[in-house]
Amino acid sequence: MKLAFIGIGKVGFALANNLQHKGHEIIIAHNDIQSESVVRAQAKNPAFSALPIQEAISASDIVLLATPFNVAETVLLSLDFEGKALIDCTNPVGPGISHGLESKISGAEKVQEWAPTARVVKAYTIYGFENLENASFPNYNVNPVMLIAGNEKAAKTRVATLNTDLGFETLDVGDLSQALHLEHMTLLWVKMVRANGHHPHFTWAYLER
Ligand SMILES: NC(=O)c1ccc[n+]([C@@H]2O[C@H](COP(=O)([O-])OP(=O)(O)OC[C@H]3O[C@@H](n4cnc5c(N)ncnc54)[C@H](OP(=O)(O)O)[C@@H]3O)[C@@H](O)[C@H]2O)c1
Repeated sequence: MKLAFIGIGKVGFALANNLQHKGHEIIIAHNDIQSESVVRAQAKNPAFSALPIQEAISASDIVLLATPFNVAETVLLSLDFEGKALIDCTNPVGPGISHGLESKISGAEKVQEWAPTARVVKAYTIYGFENLENASFPNYNVNPVMLIAGNEKAAKTRVATLNTDLGFETLDVGDLSQALHLEHMTLLWVKMVRANGHHPHFTWAYLER
């Protein structure tokens, strides 16, 4: 698939690089071709192309948003997503690793509000970028799980395909309102790893009887 990345920093590059090696075409959706992360990403993976954000959206099958949450409204408001899936990889994080919207609404629902022409799916936020670079756990015979939430079944099915390519099993946890709980899972992981020193190369698995 053709994947457009708005934001190609730690998370954007980890996903883009991994998915490019699985055969996907990566388009960096930029508003400044000279920006540090765009230059660095293209130097590290010359197969990435780059287009201004709206052109990149129009040229892609799926768009991924991997900017800081606090710039998302400004970035998204003028864009037409043409009904495409928009994967929200952002985390609204507040002071002291709290929920940045005081747990009243998920960041993903705000992203949907700011991008009404997109079909927003929350994904890739429950772990740090380390597990997006490499989701392989060869010593186990289960794959790590990626929890996703969104209102549109078809958009979630497309995201599930990317999960498979990255090495994740998909668990669809329901509609976009469930993203609030995924964002709390993010805070759990972030606090364990970034604040309390837990090893970053750990994930959750889904076991069902
Ligand atoms: N780090 C993690 O482990 C992790 C894991 C899961 C989810 N997340 C979430 O993923 C998002 C990205 O995190 P990150 O760690 O990848 O951040 P990062 O390394 O700082 O990268 C941020 C990217 O967003 C771009 N950007 C910043 N402001 C922009 C704007 N106004 N318009 C367009 N692009 C802009 C940056 O471009 P420039 O080069 O121009 O600054 C850069 O490409 C955040 O919401 C974070 O909470 C992070």
